[in-house]
Amino acid sequence: MLEGGGPRFCVIGGDGAIGAALAKSLRATGSEVLASTRREVIEPLMQFSLDLRADLNNFSMPECDVLVLTASVTKLAQCRSDPETARRVNVDAQLRLAEKAARNGAFVIFLSTAQVFDGTKANVGPKEALGPRSVYGKLKAEAESKLSRLGDSVAIVRLSKVVGPHLDLFQRWRRELSRGEAIEAFEDLFLAPIAMAKVVAGVELIGYRRLGGVWHLGCSEEISYLQTGRHLACRLGADARLVVSASAAMAGIPVEERPLRVSMAPGNLETAIGVRIGDALEELDVGLGFADWARTDIYSKSDMIIPQAT
Ligand SMILES: NC(=O)c1ccc[n+]([C@@H]2O[C@H](COP(=O)([O-])OP(=O)(O)OC[C@H]3O[C@@H](n4cnc5c(N)ncnc54)[C@H](OP(=O)(O)O)[C@@H]3O)[C@@H](O)[C@H]2O)c1
Repeated sequence: MLEGGGPRFCVIGGDGAIGAALAKSLRATGSEVLASTRREVIEPLMQFSLDLRADLNNFSMPECDVLVLTASVTKLAQCRSDPETARRVNVDAQLRLAEKAARNGAFVIFLSTAQVFDGTKANVGPKEALGPRSVYGKLKAEAESKLSRLGDSVAIVRLSKVVGPHLDLFQRWRRELSRGEAIEAFEDLFLAPIAMAKVVAGVELIGYRRLGGVWHLGCSEEISYLQTGRHLACRLGADARLVVSASAAMAGIPVEERPLRVSMAPGNLETAIGVRIGDALEELDVGLGFADWARTDIYSKSDMIIPQAT
């Protein structure tokens, strides 16, 4: 624990989109953060090396109050083509690290996905039955099940599509539309966008307050990539006719990786942590920088003081 009483976070996957944004935000609010990397360790006081494919039996977990598991094989096609490695990273390693941290009294946050559901029902709540169809979703569901056995010291945070400057596809669309070039967008692939800033704020608060259980940080409305492209064109003042409809099915994306329903109900998220999630277009606007979102509304200094063990 820090001198001022704030918790020390350990972020597994510090180079990933969410891990990097989370570590940056936590440091900006004065928290101490250690982050894992598979690359060269440049700042040994803030980083450590870790490859989740390795044998972790003898891995010595750095001391921390909150462990955030963000590293994962996140590409659905990669999970499909090499399920053995994906299982090692997305299930076995997560459990091993969580057990080590929980044994030392740390609170564990595991990032999961809306893909643990079967994709047939919109606005699905945190307590509804799972029915994953993609390999990625199945592995996340298995990890959830194993991690939840660790009890109240674990939070499972299911995310829908996190939108921010890290998304190469939307950055490319932005450049091409701004130059007056046409883009192709899938009409049969859906996302339920949530702005990165809200994901970061939500995960931080769940960690600060050690809120165990299952949380949904996701949008309750889905839109297609085609609608997303048209919205982007509109925001950029580009001709919406530049956004050309394409088919994910025709592009070879298997049916289990293009669910029609990907939205989630937030449950008691807003009441518990004060993060209000807007509709799909609002989340796109915040995530893509067309609208501001003031996270200061939801913070108080007391959020940063971890409860003392009794
Ligand atoms: N972003 C979303 O829309 C979204 C939605 C639902 C759920 N999630 C979940 O949220 C978490 C974070 O997602 P993200 O978008 O930040 O993913 P990301 O940008 O793809 O980052 C994944 C991170 O995992 C690391 N990683 C992969 N294999 C590893 C291994 N064998 N050993 C150590 N590190 C490894 C990667 O390291 P390298 O940089 O070295 O490759 C990378 O830093 C994931 O669990 C993901 O499933 C994300």
